[in-house]
Amino acid sequence: MQASPIRKLVPYANAAKAAGTSVYHLNIGQPDIPTPEGYWNALKKSMPEVLAYGPSQGIPELRRAIATYYSRSGISIDEDDVIITTGGSEAVYFAFMATCDHGDEVICFEPFYTNYNGFASMAGVNLVPVTSSVENGFHLPDTEEIESKITEKTKAILICNPNNPTGTVLSPEELQTLSRIIQKHDLYLLSDEVYRDFVFDGGSHLSILELPGIEDRVIVMDSISKRFSSCGARLGNLISRNKTVLDAVLKLGQARLCPPTLAQYGAAWIYHHLSEDYYDNMLKTYQNRRNVLMEELADVEGIFFLKPEGAFYATIKLPVKDAEKFALWMLTDFQYNGETTMVSPAAGFYATPGLGVDQIRIAYVLSDEKMRKALKILKEGLKVYRDTVE
Ligand SMILES: Cc1ncc(COP(=O)(O)O)c(C=O)c1O
Repeated sequence: MQASPIRKLVPYANAAKAAGTSVYHLNIGQPDIPTPEGYWNALKKSMPEVLAYGPSQGIPELRRAIATYYSRSGISIDEDDVIITTGGSEAVYFAFMATCDHGDEVICFEPFYTNYNGFASMAGVNLVPVTSSVENGFHLPDTEEIESKITEKTKAILICNPNNPTGTVLSPEELQTLSRIIQKHDLYLLSDEVYRDFVFDGGSHLSILELPGIEDRVIVMDSISKRFSSCGARLGNLISRNKTVLDAVLKLGQARLCPPTLAQYGAAWIYHHLSEDYYDNMLKTYQNRRNVLMEELADVEGIFFLKPEGAFYATIKLPVKDAEKFALWMLTDFQYNGETTMVSPAAGFYATPGLGVDQIRIAYVLSDEKMRKALKILKEGLKVYRDTVE
């Protein structure tokens, strides 16, 4: 397994901090928005005498709350279609394990969320990449190109929508295309919809749960980490209307006993009580940050990326030969008034060797003011790096 490109430069960031340099973290999707207060109150109210194991599929209150949350978007699922997982991470792993045997293949559009690599390795699954390009905003390539990767070992197509690391939101037409492909080739469609509430510019999110005719072929992976700024709660969920898939996932769930018990009470409270205002404010906050990113990087010669449509990431082509060397140099050799900026090199988000080497991923998870500072430092660093190193 490769080291995570999101975390592998952390020791260098720590060394920079130890030497007195402040570091702006644009490398990791860790929201800075406070976790809703009601979460903590709900935890306190639920504190039992014994912090016991819970049901393997998660507590009924939370599964019901999730079904209600989806019904607000007009998506009809039953609480029995939901299995609570230890983060969206475990949902991805369970989806691979439930749909594939050892040596089977899952088609995935690169660049993709880098940890899919790790889960695929753990499940003995081969991720087969189909490349999407920065030039067309990382939207899907032609149907023929996708179909050319399908073999008798292919079991599923995996998408992340809205996308980490690119911020791309797939159109209804693109999802229809995928629906046709999976029906034609008898495959599952796995969709990581962790960022489903983060679609900008008045756009709306279409879940694969809404696509007609493929109800028994779709598996959604979801999480409260980003939606409720609760990354440390380690709670996600897997949704399927296919009983056989759910039975397989439940067996995996039983093997790991249960997801975190206490956090589930807090999560059930949040799902039930947060108003539309919470979601609207969160969306506005990230959309503004996206706009700051566009403004700050608009005038930089040699940088290329299209406006991200959702999530809170952008994959950006830089005018450097090796973006990893640049990202490392920003931590080891550069500071601007005692501060520097950490980004993730994008090559680790690709499966095809050699791709993405001149790209970085930025997570715009800081306040507008901090974002502006962090990006100014990045631009300054880029100038110095190009003049003195490359
Ligand atoms: C696309 C995507 N899927 C899954 C995850 C994992 O989320 P969790 O914290 O719920 O395990 C992340 C986390 O960054 C993500 O970006």
